[in-house]
Amino acid sequence: MNYNAIIGKVYEETKGLPNKGKIATYIPELANVDPNRFGVHMTNLNGKGFGVGDHLKKFSIQSIAKVLSLTLAYKIVGEKIWKRVDVEPSGTKFDSLLLLEVNNGIPRNPFVNSGAIVICDILISHLGNAKVDFLAFVRELSNLPDLVYSDKIADSEKANGYRNVALCNFIKSLDNIENDPAVVLDFYFDMCSLEMNCQQVSNMMTYLANGGHKVSDGSEIITKSQSKRINALMLTCGFYDESGEFAFKVGLPGKSGVGGGIVAVYPQHYVITVWSPPLNPHGNSFLGMKFLEEFTTHSDFTIF
Ligand code: DON
Repeated sequence: MNYNAIIGKVYEETKGLPNKGKIATYIPELANVDPNRFGVHMTNLNGKGFGVGDHLKKFSIQSIAKVLSLTLAYKIVGEKIWKRVDVEPSGTKFDSLLLLEVNNGIPRNPFVNSGAIVICDILISHLGNAKVDFLAFVRELSNLPDLVYSDKIADSEKANGYRNVALCNFIKSLDNIENDPAVVLDFYFDMCSLEMNCQQVSNMMTYLANGGHKVSDGSEIITKSQSKRINALMLTCGFYDESGEFAFKVGLPGKSGVGGGIVAVYPQHYVITVWSPPLNPHGNSFLGMKFLEEFTTHSDFTIF
């Protein structure tokens, strides 16, 4: 399969489409990004990579980091994790409070904000210093020893993240947050502030295409079964109330972030990351969704 040619062709076609998306402004710092940025990078399990456009420009990975925090928490606590967070699609926006009351403070899945906040609480309970230890885990996973949280982005969200403050306090009132909500939120906002480029995200996520093992040295990050389950959650819950649509149109496990990034995994084959900042009404990259739909359609090679 000549993926490079397909990526190049679909990139040019997608770039020419009218972009109906809008940049996220509820985190003021995200509004400063150039809306015309557009990059794609694929990393194959055979070690080959290919990128086009702004694939080497850093962006705010935001909710893509929820896959990393879930990976670390699942690695540490194992199956007990599912007592604290469910594995069902929410059918709601990423920052919705709606289902928490009827579900007694158990978030629907680890990728909606409420679920990712509970995962942060779990990490704080199990790690000596969650912020430091999580960053060390991501540095190791990504082979990026100099990676740091972006204070600019984290501070911008900390000053404006009213819905997340509400979510965390509400879950605390329903007894599913163990630690001080201020501490949990501080870690959550830092976790979401990581910046990487498409190539770095694709390389880092190859463990999910490789049965939970790091491709560069073969070390086990999580078990094969855990990797299967995280992929399954990405397929069913990675795009909030657009998860069904993404599975229907793209047919791969994936995860989006409000910085405009989307990562998609083809187990045993490749990881592809797309970045275009303007978002559709569901909070997912408008062009990123279009690119991936066209890409998997033209590559005519599917997990289903
Ligand atoms: O908590 C928030 O709202 C952001 N830090 C992350 C949300 C996000 O990326 C949703 N993704 N599409």
